[in-house]
Amino acid sequence: VLQLTLAVIKPDAVAHPVILEALHQRILDNNFVIVRSKDVVWRRQDSESFYAEHSGRFFYQRLVEFMSSGPMRAYVLAREDAIHHWRALMGPTKVFRARHTSPATIRAQFGLTDTRNTTHGSDSVESAQREIRFFYPDFCAEEWMEKE
Ligand code: CMP
Repeated sequence: VLQLTLAVIKPDAVAHPVILEALHQRILDNNFVIVRSKDVVWRRQDSESFYAEHSGRFFYQRLVEFMSSGPMRAYVLAREDAIHHWRALMGPTKVFRARHTSPATIRAQFGLTDTRNTTHGSDSVESAQREIRFFYPDFCAEEWMEKE
């Protein structure tokens, strides 16, 4: 089924033009349609609010700081089973595990640490809706689906 997901290229990767371009190309090579794309810089409070479910975890402060440390790129992507496919391309959250279990994934190839792990992707239909609304408050998924 045709699905939308939110994909973020995090500040560690946006800071490096060659990696940013490689990731953009990987999106196109994997048959995603880029529905929306923009570069944004979060204030600390945007970061805290987006990752509120992780408040209290040991990595929360460093995550919040990292995600508001510089520009990132936020895409709305569409394809069959977009949520699963983007997560499969990213690989496991933890870089060590990614390098050992799935060396061809984005995080295995470009991730720096468990926090600075290159990309984010929605993990369910519900979080995709929430996260798309977070970055693109005016975006109407139903309208976009109808046009397709
Ligand atoms: P993301 O997919 O954006 O969702 C939550 C983020 O928290 C995750 O990617 C990492 O950047 C960070 N994170 C998750 N688990 C850990 C961990 N064990 N140590 C450090 N950072 C983590």
